Formats: sequence, structure tokens, C-alpha cells
Amino acid sequence: MVKFNVKWYKKFIESTNEKDLLVSKISDLLEGKPQNSCLEIGLGISPYFAQKLSKNFKKYIIVEKRIIKDKLPEGVEMINDDWENIKLDNKFDVIIASHVIYYFNNKKAALEKMFNTLNEGGRIIFVINGKTSDYGPLKFAFGDMIRKKYIFTYDKLLKLLKGRKFREYTLPSTIKFSSFEDLFETLKLSFNSCPEEYEKLKGRIIKYLKENIKGQSFIIDQKLIEVKK
Ligand SMILES: C[S@@+](CC[C@H](N)C(=O)[O-])C[C@H]1O[C@@H](n2cnc3c(N)ncnc32)[C@H](O)[C@@H]1O
Repeated sequence: MVKFNVKWYKKFIESTNEKDLLVSKISDLLEGKPQNSCLEIGLGISPYFAQKLSKNFKKYIIVEKRIIKDKLPEGVEMINDDWENIKLDNKFDVIIASHVIYYFNNKKAALEKMFNTLNEGGRIIFVINGKTSDYGPLKFAFGDMIRKKYIFTYDKLLKLLKGRKFREYTLPSTIKFSSFEDLFETLKLSFNSCPEEYEKLKGRIIKYLKENIKGQSFIIDQKLIEVKK
């Protein structure tokens, strides 16, 4: 089971431009056209998406497992529950599942539930990290270090979407860092399925980063996958 770590997430968010890129791309996909309803699964620590996107919808609901007490944008409703257990009566025109699939215990069932919760003609927007740029090779190198083939959630998602038509967009996001030690700390979030190994291999990972990352930025190719029903 992968556990969400708020401290690691905060550190990551402070160092990357990924949320701005995502919000802007999703806005483009929605084309400013008013839609009825949006369901967002997995908020994180702040309503980045809802702040910019909720104005497009009559109804905007967020399902988040953690108890969140922060103020939400007007008209946005929060359901504090686990997507894998919740029962919803409503269906939605748009479902946003950004960087949340990693955490589902049963990804197949969680995805099926999303498609069952989507109106005809609606779409799901998934966001996950891709396998290219700096991020993918680091994960492959880490797999070699722990002698386990690293399986990307990206590949798992594509397998689960087999037979469905989708569009894939690549959004390279930049992580800024002041030292390789700092970059190691920022990337902890991406290794939250094996935190002990990551910490144990700190020396080797920093050596890898020093040898392979040129300049003061680390690139993650985020994949935005849009599936229509
Ligand atoms: C990495 S954050 C992603 C947040 C945001 N969507 C983003 O793109 O940055 C994952 C969020 O999903 C939530 N989460 C994980 N599993 C969940 C589940 N089964 N149901 C609802 N929320 C979940 C976590 O608590 C966390 O807030």
C-alpha cells in the first residue's frame, strides 16, 4: 500500500511548476465551455484545480481520503472519503484523477468505478508521471539498484485502458533544486512505494543524479490522458 506523505508532497510542490502546467492544459481541453459537473479525486493539500476550473461547472465535487478543513472555492463541495469505498449516486461530465492512481489498492476496480460514474459523452482526465526525460531513467536506475524491474503506473494505466480510445499529452515539468541533496529530498514523494530502499540508497542515488542531471533542473514528463465515454 502506498501512503501519501504530506511533508514530501509539500516539498515537491514548492519545487515544481507542474500544477500551473496541468491547470492550463486542462483549461484548454475544457475550452472554457460551461459543463454541468466535475468530480476531482484526490485533492493533495490545496484546491489548485478547483480554484481555476470550478467556474466552468455548475457542480464541482472533490473526493479526498484525508480530512481537509481548509476553505474551498465557492460552490465546491468536499466529500472526505476513500474513492475505493465510496458509493456515489451522481454521475459527472468530467472526472479529474491527477497523481492519485498510484495510491489505489485495486486500480482496475477504481478505474471501472470512474467509468461507471461518468455520464455518456463525458471524459476522464488522468495525470501520471511518464517514463521519459530525467524521471524515467532515474526510476530504471533505481530498479537496477534494488534488483527489481520498476513497473511504471503509466504502463499499468495504459494496460487498464486497453480497448478504449484516448488522447495522450506530454507536459514536461521542471523541478528546481539548489543541490543534489536538495533534489534527493524533493524526489522522495516519487519513491513513496519504497521509502526505506530510497533512503538506504541515498549515496548511490545522489551519485547517479550528479552524473546524469545537467544544469539546475530535473524534468518530469507528466502524461495527461484524456479518455472519452
Ligand atoms: C499526490 S496527491 C495528488 C493531489 C493532486 N491531485 C495533484 O495532482 O497534485 C494524492 C492525493 O490523493 C489522495 N488519495 C489517495 N488515495 C485516495 C483514495 N483512495 N480516495 C481519495 N483520495 C485519495 C491523497 O490523500 C492525496 O491528497
